[in-house]
Amino acid sequence: MNDLVSMKQLSESEILALLDRAQNFETYGARELPKKYTVSNLFFEPSTRTKTSFEVAERKLGLDVVPFESGLSSTIKGETLYDTVKTLESIGVDALVIRHPDVGYYNQLIGKTNISIINGGDGSGQHPTQSLLDLYTIREEFGSFEGLNIVIAGDIAHSRVARSNADALTRLGANVTFLCPTEWCGEFNAVHEWDENLLNSDVIMLLRVQHERHNEKSIFTKESYHNQYGLTLERAKRMKENAIILHPAPFNRGVEIDENLIECSKSRIFKQMENGVYVRMAVLELILNGRN
Ligand code: CP
Repeated sequence: MNDLVSMKQLSESEILALLDRAQNFETYGARELPKKYTVSNLFFEPSTRTKTSFEVAERKLGLDVVPFESGLSSTIKGETLYDTVKTLESIGVDALVIRHPDVGYYNQLIGKTNISIINGGDGSGQHPTQSLLDLYTIREEFGSFEGLNIVIAGDIAHSRVARSNADALTRLGANVTFLCPTEWCGEFNAVHEWDENLLNSDVIMLLRVQHERHNEKSIFTKESYHNQYGLTLERAKRMKENAIILHPAPFNRGVEIDENLIECSKSRIFKQMENGVYVRMAVLELILNGRN
């Protein structure tokens, strides 16, 4: 595999093999790759977790990491993404992690350059390594996906996390329910209010309201959104004993999740961030070792 841009590329067995490899990294630590590949992380949208955890994963694998600051690059002078990528290829970079606001930005690159592309998020399209770390965290907790009931609640329409996870979790045997305001469902069938059935799920995944992708001012205040769609303290008390709370982060305290739940015993939010490093090592190893 030369590139990873979407979860739809991966078969169920390929997903599980990546999770197994990540587990190996967590258990036994990192080993440097046999060749010193050169990589760079091109982020045209803000990121804390994805960018830094890719950088940590890259360093643990012994890769040369070329710094790239989009705000100081020649893209500011009008250079296209394609020309930027061709330039980095000419200079000797083997693989790029790219986050970009345009859905499917990678279609202009794949097959037209020899550099490997790992998608770090394309607008509201896909975020495959976030999905893999979510899957890893769920499997770490429950051992498998078959028959698990999973709620994904929030700004579904604008969420690349929802889009990536919906497909993968369903293929792996989980039952996924979406909860969101009627205005923010996108292409998904969703329910619009919490009930005992939803609160009885194994996993509740909250998503941030992505104001930066909305054209209109929100119809909700922080309080009204929290009360209708958020995971409140009162709702969390009604969750199953062994259920877990996930959130890709960044989170907005007191909006989609009560601030006291972020580090509660059910929360795996910071474990998700740790797991991101193992999963990204597995993805980098797969892509780079697969290069000719
Ligand atoms: N979850 C996630 O993608 O976080 P960042 O935007 O900080 O990378």
